[in-house]
Amino acid sequence: MSEEIVFDAGGSREQIYREIIPQIEALLGDDEIANFANVAAVLKQVLGFFWVGFYRATAPELLTVGPYQGDLACLHIPFDKGVCGAAARTQKTIIVPDVEQFPGHIACSSLSKSEIVVPFVRGGRTRFVLDVDSDKRDDFAEVDQRNLERIVAMIGNAA
Ligand code: SME
Repeated sequence: MSEEIVFDAGGSREQIYREIIPQIEALLGDDEIANFANVAAVLKQVLGFFWVGFYRATAPELLTVGPYQGDLACLHIPFDKGVCGAAARTQKTIIVPDVEQFPGHIACSSLSKSEIVVPFVRGGRTRFVLDVDSDKRDDFAEVDQRNLERIVAMIGNAA
């Protein structure tokens, strides 16, 4: 297995996702935490996002930070707080074009301007969420939602 991700840095975001998805699939193993760590590293490296990481549901209605790449993040997020909590509660992907306009947004860094959170749900329960933050406003679109949902499903079903 190659430990290097091959992609065209000058390509469109769609193209980059298309290149990296099979490589992510190939690097997933049977340990969920290891998969979170490797996927956070790949997404940070190839798409240059400001913060990429996972929060796991560790108790009823409570998320706990998992592997991530970026600035220090808060330890726990209840389901009724922040964008992560909202995605975990509604079990739907949430795109926030301007975090300042999202009531209850948790600012881990003032550099974060827009955000997407994708939940993984199994047996009716949210198991974890992928959180990606950008230092640019309005940086997430359907292309990110579609591809990140695919990546999250791959991780959730791998281990
Ligand atoms: N902004 C998130 C909190 C997590 S950090 O961005 C890493 C939220 O509102 O849920």
